[in-house]
Amino acid sequence: MYLCDRVQPFSVLKVNDRYYRTVWMEGSVIRYIDQNGLPFRFQIKESRTYRESCAVICGMEVRGAGAIGALAGFAMAQAFLEAPAIDPEIFLLQARREIESTRPTARNLFYATQKVFEAGIKEKANAVKAAFTLADKDAEDSRKIGEYGNDLIHDGCCIETHCNAGWLAFVDYGTALSPVYIAHEQGKKVFVYADETRPRNQGARLTAWELQQAGVPHSIIPDNAGAWFMKLGKIHLVITGADRIAANGDVANKIGTLEKAIAAHEYGIPFYVAAPSSTFDLECKTGEDIPIEERPENEVHYMEGPDEEGILRKIRVTNPFSSAMNPAFDVTPARLITGIITEKGIIHPSATHLANP
Ligand code: MRU
Repeated sequence: MYLCDRVQPFSVLKVNDRYYRTVWMEGSVIRYIDQNGLPFRFQIKESRTYRESCAVICGMEVRGAGAIGALAGFAMAQAFLEAPAIDPEIFLLQARREIESTRPTARNLFYATQKVFEAGIKEKANAVKAAFTLADKDAEDSRKIGEYGNDLIHDGCCIETHCNAGWLAFVDYGTALSPVYIAHEQGKKVFVYADETRPRNQGARLTAWELQQAGVPHSIIPDNAGAWFMKLGKIHLVITGADRIAANGDVANKIGTLEKAIAAHEYGIPFYVAAPSSTFDLECKTGEDIPIEERPENEVHYMEGPDEEGILRKIRVTNPFSSAMNPAFDVTPARLITGIITEKGIIHPSATHLANP
């Protein structure tokens, strides 16, 4: 029904033969692809106020560093549209605090609120423009990441990825999957091992669905199978996304990434991280400074899927009398990372500090 009019001729985000963006704004309304329904139900939803937009991020309807950043930028712009004419600053500062408290780890969220806030405080009309510029840049940066990353992919390459850092996690293209899409478009034979990514299964649900939409050959593998496939020589390259990158090149990404990096190191497999500059946080000197989100334990206890009528249901899959722990991210030290693919080129984090990504 809705087609974002800002899709570019080079967009890859295509569902049922129509191009989309994951998130966009029309007037004061934000429209977005609801990721919680996927892969079982594709639905465009909308949020009409900045508070509704905060709930969209908290509820993980939109997740993934770049998509969160774009939505946060639009939410900040909504706050400017909602602010009272007299003394708007108190309202706007409160709105910014609320948007920034939705998720703590993804750097792009804070980058976006800051940029839109600074633009709008100078001139209210600039807030919406700044939010669109950020979203456009996210799509463009992702495409460039794909072009640089494509050079790492040879014909016949088998790539493992963790979580979802494809176009659903950004405005278009994605980061870890962008090189895969470009390699596939160019006719290279590629195969993707998609880690299921417990507890929310972003790999099994979202990455797998995206790859299927694009016609990229792939298989979902259990989270604990990666090292085994590496040992068997079936994986040639690992590419993951990032939620925040510290000044020394340490990378916070979805929980489980660290294990993949350790296994890749053991078996001599190149381990790359793909992320735009908006994910770098030079105020975090090392990964120790990156805040790690703790999520509800019920995400570990329950799994979700459709019943016979297609209604999404949750079922408990763990011992009812045990507690669970659910850190959402881990930090991979720079020394385990072969390179970081950015929109400006590939950098090698273990060499020195990332003074100016
Ligand atoms: O908790 P999520 O689903 O928002 O997780 C963030 C991520 O998508 C991943 O960590 C991803 O690999 C990097 S961000 C695109």
